[in-house]
Amino acid sequence: MTGWRRIGPSAGLAAWAAAALPLARAALTASDEPLRSGGTWAVGLDLLPNEASGRVGGVDLPWADLGLAPEPLHRAQLSTVFPGYPQPSPDESAQAFAFRRNRDAAHLDGLLPIGPDRHRMVKEPHGWILGLPLNDSTGSPLVVWEGSHEMLRKALLAALSPHPPPTWGDIDLTEAYAAARRQIFASCPRIELPTRPGEATLLHRLTLHGVAAWAEAASAPPEGRIIAYFRPLLPSVQDWLLMP
Ligand SMILES: [Fe+2]
Repeated sequence: MTGWRRIGPSAGLAAWAAAALPLARAALTASDEPLRSGGTWAVGLDLLPNEASGRVGGVDLPWADLGLAPEPLHRAQLSTVFPGYPQPSPDESAQAFAFRRNRDAAHLDGLLPIGPDRHRMVKEPHGWILGLPLNDSTGSPLVVWEGSHEMLRKALLAALSPHPPPTWGDIDLTEAYAAARRQIFASCPRIELPTRPGEATLLHRLTLHGVAAWAEAASAPPEGRIIAYFRPLLPSVQDWLLMP
């Protein structure tokens, strides 16, 4: 198991991306969310005006092409990256910026920094992570650490198993996560996954992933490189950790 899968190209995915792009451009233009990383990244949470079925701009999300069972979806994130990503910014420490530039801001989705001491806890147990590129760009591809999902599963399970499963979302995983991440950097292949409209990337929910720094030779349209992400939630942290 690699923890990731490239899907397509398919005509259905290409039609979906083409229908989503003008709506994504409009939503990003209208958004008043401040850019991060010195103006080189729009996080774009919940910005795409898709229906719960995934349908957008009159075009259905081709679930069969994705190999997924249809389920209700949130509005897609529109992660938008501009040339020069990442740049330092006042809301990021020098250490965090270095990690973003040198380690692709590698992270596990759903493990959020909680409280003033930013203790890591599983607050968003996603079922899977689906990335759908909306425009043609070689800039800042998604990066995955192949096989990292099973290492994270083992490490987090060891940290959580002394506690009753209903409390797992409130357990501090900071140390277990940091140790697992170090082990992953030392042993898992880092793989860049550039994609084009009409393709998709499906990540196992426990796969360590990030965003590559913008390469000097990379190209993008004026609106930046836009990838739409869906991450529907599971009922529990127990499911998140134990499901295949
Ligand atoms: Fe992520």
